[in-house]
Amino acid sequence: MNTLTHAIEAIVRAAGAMMRDAFNDPDKPAYSLKGRQDYLTVTDGAVERFVRAEIERRFPGDAVLGEEDGGAVTAARLWIVDPIDGTANFARQIPHFCISLGLLVDGRLEAGAIYEPMHDELFIAQRGQGAWCNGERMRVSELTELPAATLEIGWSARLPAAPYLALVLRGMEAGCSVRRAGSGALGLAYVAAGRSEAYAEAHINAWDVAAGLLLVEEAGGRVNDFWTADALTQGNPVLATNRRLAAELSVLTGIGLK
Ligand code: IPD
Repeated sequence: MNTLTHAIEAIVRAAGAMMRDAFNDPDKPAYSLKGRQDYLTVTDGAVERFVRAEIERRFPGDAVLGEEDGGAVTAARLWIVDPIDGTANFARQIPHFCISLGLLVDGRLEAGAIYEPMHDELFIAQRGQGAWCNGERMRVSELTELPAATLEIGWSARLPAAPYLALVLRGMEAGCSVRRAGSGALGLAYVAAGRSEAYAEAHINAWDVAAGLLLVEEAGGRVNDFWTADALTQGNPVLATNRRLAAELSVLTGIGLK
């Protein structure tokens, strides 16, 4: 741990405590929908404002891009925050959601963390320094057989159902256990922790993956080249896998690896 990762840990833990308090508050305000199956709670905005203020205080001059309030995308040092990833779970009282915070320096992920407050799990990584879950070094799984593998496939209403269902079918026909737990960030953290073999989604936003992709790489896994020209504003497909199944899963999903 150093100054940078200490600061990241402090920010995501404090943000996570806000989310946990709101989740446990029986009088919390109702959620609303930004669009079809696109949930919004007052906590999303409150957590993002808190994170922005913390970054401004601790790293003056750095830029912030957030899911709720947007932001600059051209800065050399850019923090990318998803205040609540898994908002639908949060809104519906399902304790599977997190904050994701990543730091992109000159277009390359340098550090990031995902904090899951309901189980007090901190997933954190810094480039070249490894990936850690609650102080334990994380490694991707060593599984080599798709019929024993777990593949999480993310879905959002941003894309039609047919390609999602086709990918689920291909995964199942290859023998995978296919799941969808509703948080892309935690999906990536679980690949890094060796709890599943891969996470794939045909379209995901930068704030959902800005910490998770680094976690997977630092845990010895493989990821696609997400950070192409307009990834920050338009999103991209994502694939993160363990090393041993990477080639097969790249063919299966049709998503190339770095
Ligand atoms: C969504 C979740 C979901 C993923 C979607 C994301 P949100 O983010 O990560 O699992 O499949 O692509 O938009 O709305 O919970 O922040």
